[in-house]
Amino acid sequence: MRIITTILEMQKVADDLRQSGKSIGVVPTMGYLHEGHISLIRIAREHSDAVIVTLFVNPMQFGPTEDYKKYPRDFERDKKLTETVGTDILFVPSKEEMYPGGNLTVVDVEKITNVLEGNFRPTHFRGVTTVVVKLFNITKPHIVVFGQKDAQQAIVVQKLVKDLDFDIKIFIGPTVREPDGLAMSSRNVYLSSTERKDSTVLYQSIRLAQQLINDGERNSSIIISEMSKLITSKPSAKIDYISITDASSLEDLAVLRPNDSILILLAVRFGTTRLIDNILLTI
Ligand SMILES: Nc1ncnc2c1ncn2[C@@H]1O[C@H](COP(=O)(O)OP(=O)(O)OP(=O)(O)O)[C@@H](O)[C@H]1O
Ligand SMILES: [Mg+2]
Repeated sequence: MRIITTILEMQKVADDLRQSGKSIGVVPTMGYLHEGHISLIRIAREHSDAVIVTLFVNPMQFGPTEDYKKYPRDFERDKKLTETVGTDILFVPSKEEMYPGGNLTVVDVEKITNVLEGNFRPTHFRGVTTVVVKLFNITKPHIVVFGQKDAQQAIVVQKLVKDLDFDIKIFIGPTVREPDGLAMSSRNVYLSSTERKDSTVLYQSIRLAQQLINDGERNSSIIISEMSKLITSKPSAKIDYISITDASSLEDLAVLRPNDSILILLAVRFGTTRLIDNILLTI
């Protein structure tokens, strides 16, 4: 596995790969890798000749009071893991390499970035979309793989690719979970042992929603209120939002109708750790 730290070298290597007829698959990450990331690398491996994993804790997608400085990092471990699953290139730029200063350009997807995560993290998605476009221009992918765990991010990136005509196919890998249902996330290491136990309530509330829908419930506010009751039964849990939306517009659905593509999303804080989860379904 080759480790590349500069934009110029990464672009040159990507050009060479393309010129020799190889397809490039990219998996963008912020490192501190877990099975969720690994599953995305496997998807990239399946659909491309050369796999590039990018590892960059992007300061631009963290709010001023968020955890950029204390975000978990373990480069040696990430290096071993990526190599083991057949990564060809690990692109690890520094903050200075990616943002040398003087940048005046941002990429902003409107409307669908103002709700849900965007409502609680107002500058987050502009940070994501800007770095994603930079990574596209640096790694020159044919395909890029993102995770369903970050459902809104997946929708925003797909819209960006469509609106700006990027010649890139986006794959969305399913959410990988711990045995008790908690969605894997690098931030799970922040949880105290009590918070970790309580955090299983996210997935339990999703399962409850699924059960209610299977039993015929079609009224979103009833489903949300049942989810909310279950979550607040855990003393350490504080709900940011629970929403039932149309899976492409992210507009709230008051009533669930057959053939709607339904996305149930939630964000819950446990102490200072904020977790998200979601499920995509149709009835
Ligand atoms: N449990 C998971 N299953 C599948 N994909 C995941 C999972 N967790 C993260 N991903 C995906 O991995 C990619 C990189 O995400 P990132 O490096 O931010 O990891 P993360 O676990 O989401 O970390 P954090 O929760 O701290 O943001 C994203 O496309 C994200 O959706
Ligand atoms: Mg993440």
